[in-house]
Amino acid sequence: MNSRILVTGAGGNVGRELMRALPPGSARAADISPATIIQALGSDIDAVRFDFGDPTTYAPALENISRLFLLRPPAITDIPRYITPFLQAAKRAGVQQIVFLSIQGVENNKQVPHYKIEQAIRAAEIPYTFLRCGFFMQNLATTHRDEIRERHVIDVPAGKSRTSFVDVRDIAAFASVVLTEAGHEGKVYTLTGSQALDYYQVADIMSDVLGHPITYKDPSIPKFIIHQRKAGRPWGMTMVMTMLYTITRFGNASSISDDVQNLLGRPPISFRQFVEDHQSAWA
Ligand SMILES: NC(=O)c1ccc[n+]([C@@H]2O[C@H](COP(=O)([O-])OP(=O)(O)OC[C@H]3O[C@@H](n4cnc5c(N)ncnc54)[C@H](OP(=O)(O)O)[C@@H]3O)[C@@H](O)[C@H]2O)c1
Repeated sequence: MNSRILVTGAGGNVGRELMRALPPGSARAADISPATIIQALGSDIDAVRFDFGDPTTYAPALENISRLFLLRPPAITDIPRYITPFLQAAKRAGVQQIVFLSIQGVENNKQVPHYKIEQAIRAAEIPYTFLRCGFFMQNLATTHRDEIRERHVIDVPAGKSRTSFVDVRDIAAFASVVLTEAGHEGKVYTLTGSQALDYYQVADIMSDVLGHPITYKDPSIPKFIIHQRKAGRPWGMTMVMTMLYTITRFGNASSISDDVQNLLGRPPISFRQFVEDHQSAWA
């Protein structure tokens, strides 16, 4: 009988934390590079090489799997080519629930890949749970780490708008519950932190905790695109980032949801706590 959980993107920000949050021995970690999984989670983990672009990797990953945590790697934008065939394989393998990491406000933005994935999951007729997440606090310790560490600036085109940042540790804790508890099929949750901050406030909190000034630059959209391309970011990813910061700029990333508090029975991790816990990233 199928009984295990498959975690895609297991070597990444959310997947790593989810593997730690799930009951020991309950899940298989899937990622394009098993070395990344082992480095992050140790060699005794049930890990499998899995590539959305290589259908021969689907069946071994899906063997004996009943629940699937689906994460779209940021570089994947062609959903019919890379995600739909995997959903069909999951259906054939008897997967009974897909928990998909989506984005906050996806219902109003049909251009983002996550909208197309939600549609594809519904079309596949596999019971689903959508986790529509706000901007990750961890973006500041990963995607934007170098500019903060080396130039002491935050260089995103978000204007004066506010963002209800969420810590990926809360996403992982939430996903772990909906993957292991009955009754979350057909549900759509919105995962945010409990505060909406503008990037001037983000810079102030970071300055305070790190003990030196961090400045928010608020570049224009064209400047942001040029800078991302010069930094080596692929086109598709640059365009998705630009789209998401444009949405933010118009104030659409600021609403706060109670879903984390209601499901986990505790407040979400605060932005200050996140910075305190990740100080070494910017050292
Ligand atoms: N950042 C945000 O603020 C935010 C907010 C809401 C939703 N999201 C969504 O969250 C997702 C990103 O989550 P994350 O930050 O945890 O991702 P991540 O850290 O980039 O992890 C993605 C993992 O997938 C692996 N991977 C890359 N290509 C693959 C392929 N073809 N097949 C299988 N695995 C592959 C990556 O390996 P390599 O590292 O070797 O490439 C990496 O280990 C995206 O869909 C994003 O849109 C993000």
